This record gives sequence, structure tokens and C-alpha cells, in this order.
Amino acid sequence: MNTCIVGLQWGDEGKGKVVDLLAEDSDIVVRYGGGSNAGHTVVIGEERFALHLLPSGSVRAGVMCVIANAVVVDPAVLIGEIDGLALRGIALTDRLLISENAHVVLDYHKREDQLREESLGKEKLGTTVRGIGPCYADKVGRSYAVRMSDFCNLPELDRKLRTILAYKNKLFAALYGAEPISIETVMASCRQYAERLVPFVRDTTEWLHHAIARGQSVLFEGAQGSLLDLDHGTFPYVTSSNASSLGVPAGCGVPARMIEKYIGVAKAYTTRVGAGPFPTEQENETGQYIREKGHEYGTTTGRPRRCGWFDAVAAAYSVKIGSIDALALLHLDTLGGLKKLSLCSAYEIDGRRTTFFPANIDRLARAKPIYEQMAGWDEDISQATTFEDLPANAQAYVRRIETLIGKPVEMIGVGPKRSQTIIRK
Ligand code: IMP
Repeated sequence: MNTCIVGLQWGDEGKGKVVDLLAEDSDIVVRYGGGSNAGHTVVIGEERFALHLLPSGSVRAGVMCVIANAVVVDPAVLIGEIDGLALRGIALTDRLLISENAHVVLDYHKREDQLREESLGKEKLGTTVRGIGPCYADKVGRSYAVRMSDFCNLPELDRKLRTILAYKNKLFAALYGAEPISIETVMASCRQYAERLVPFVRDTTEWLHHAIARGQSVLFEGAQGSLLDLDHGTFPYVTSSNASSLGVPAGCGVPARMIEKYIGVAKAYTTRVGAGPFPTEQENETGQYIREKGHEYGTTTGRPRRCGWFDAVAAAYSVKIGSIDALALLHLDTLGGLKKLSLCSAYEIDGRRTTFFPANIDRLARAKPIYEQMAGWDEDISQATTFEDLPANAQAYVRRIETLIGKPVEMIGVGPKRSQTIIRK
């Protein structure tokens, strides 16, 4: 059985934990998009693993890990993660494949991201400054792109990079008065990257099709969240890839119909990092309570996350576009201690009620959330192992979300550890 796991909100839903749980029954885990802007935390026993590029399933011995075509690979980050896991006794030597078509994030992409964000001042997008947008822009522009396959032919890469840097240096100097980047420095890094990463480079599309034909089970692992999807999210406050499950076919060359189950991961509340509309945001004591109790600070940038109530309109939209079959609702424990909970079940836009999320940010900015009030609970639920162990009010909260979204909640997170997950099915 092939499964896709994807975030239903603006990222940071806790996908890493769900992937890690399901990776136990999978032969292969695939990252299908995004880059080192993602931050997946996996907690095994007392150990915490923060991964940005490797699929979260990589911490499971024996699982094959694939970084597919649409991922933008920062080689320095990837090598750091491979070495970091090796130090903890987790070897990836024979079980990592990187698509030859995946594009490469180099230092000048990060520089461009940073210079552009700085120059935009108040208008900035609040990116993770990991060079993601500039790398995807070069991919779409084609002429100045570098792919993993380029590491297999260093003289040709040298020639290519001279053209690219001549262009970038002129641009950076003219727009931002920035110092030039030397070809020698970039090539020196690329030689090291090539030595370490070329052994993993493959035609991953062919490899995946053979593996699926052999009956191997694949877990497709989304990064970021559906509302950050370039084409279907809250543009321009999105990332530069198809972060929803719509990114799987384009990102890996595996058609959507070959995936039997789509699991949407959501927190029991909502968070967002960076700029952009967020109708249920609570810039008050409630938001602060959730931030502190849920440790809502970015895995990649350490930025405090914006926090607010669960938005069923937004989550239902992600379920619709992503053909989601079931939900994993995480961080339910974080809501414990709040007397009353609000659940957004509809929006009012220009005097009209709607339950369909407008991804257009002008309309979204005018959306007033319509809330249902629910009673909270004080009990510590971190040891609950079955749905029936949960206080009645927590059960009612989960059931109401199921009704509003129209899909079953099959997993409930009651704490950060893998073991702190209630499996309902
Ligand atoms: P970029 O992907 O670095 O270009 O950032 C674009 C937007 O996506 C910013 O608002 C980021 O905060 C957000 N973003 C990117 N990756 C993640 C993630 O993994 N979790 C949450 N937000 C993210």
C-alpha cells in the first residue's frame, strides 16, 4: 500500500512523527518537494532528531529513503544530516537515493533570498532564507539552473557556474550593492559535495516504478503544509513548491492513482510562521498560552510561531484539494487547561457566510471567522492510549472536527513521543 502524508495547515503540523510511525510498515520513504526550509522533528526514546532534507523515515533502519525530482537540495545541509545520523549510529550509505533531476541550492541562492527579503523591508514574505525561492526560480528559468546530475560532470559544472555567477554578481551588485561571489569558492564547495553525494544520485523515477511494481510499499512525505502550496495556498505568502499532496505526481513521477491512502496531518489548533493572512490568529493570552505550552518556535529558524484556534474551513479546503482520506490530529494535549475552546466552522466574507476557504488573500483578509464554543478540559492527557481514555470534552472536540471536516480522525497526538499517539483504527 502506498500512502501520502501531508500537512493541512501552514506547516509544522507534526508530520515527522506520523511519518516515523508509519515508516515502520513501509519499505520506502520519499520526500517529494521543498528543501531545507522544512524542519521535521522526530523523537525516539530520549533522542530528538531535527531533519530538514532527509525524509523523517530515515531514522528507521532498513527503510529506503528517496529525495525526488522536485526537492531542492542544499548539499551542505544534506551532508550535515547524513553525518549527524551516522554519528548516532544510523547509517544511510546503502539506503539513500537522490534524484539526478533534483535542483541544487548553492550559497548564492541563500544570498539572493536574504538580500531580497532585506530590501523588501515591511513587504518581505518572511521566508526561511534558505534559498528556496531563488533556487526554484532558477529551475523555472532553466538557463541558470544546477541539478544533482551536474555533480557528475565537474568540468561542465565549472563552465556553467561561470556563466551563472557572471549574471548573479552583476545582478547583486546593481540591485543591492553586494560583493561578488567567486567561482573558485563555489567550485571548491561543489567538488566536496560531488565527492560525497554522487554515489547516491540516480534516476529515482525509474527506481520507484520498479520498486512499486515489485510490491514495495512507499510513503510519500510532504514538507510544509497545503496552505503554503505555490498554486493553491495563500499566494504570495506561500513557499515555492507544491507542498500539498498535488505535488506528489509532479514531484516524483508517480501518478496520484498509485497512492491508496492520503493522510492529512493537522494540529488541534493552527500556527503559521512568516507573513500572510491567518483568520483565527489569537494575538493575545490564548495565543501566548498555546505558543509556550506547545513549544511553538520554528525548527528551522527558531522564530516564534503565530498561534490561533483550529480553522475547520482552512483544513477542509486542504482535505478537498488533497483528496485526503483520514486525519491525524496532533498536539491535542497542548489545549489542556484552557477553559473554553473556539472552533472556526465558517467564515463571513462581505456579509456572506461560506465554508469554502478562499486562497485569494484579498478575500481571506476580509474573512471573519465564525466560531463555535466548546468546553475545555484540565486533565493531563499525555498518558492516554485509547480514545476512551480522553476526557469527554476532548472526545467531543475531536468528534466535532470530524463532523466539520467530513473525515475520520484516525490518530491523535497527546505528546511529542512516538508512543504518545492514540491510534483509533
Ligand atoms: P520559504 O519556503 O523559505 O521561501 O518561505 C516561504 C514561507 O513559507 C514563509 O512564510 C515560511 O515561514 C514558510 N515556510 C517554509 N517552510 C516552512 C515549514 O517547514 N514550516 C512552516 N512554514 C514554512
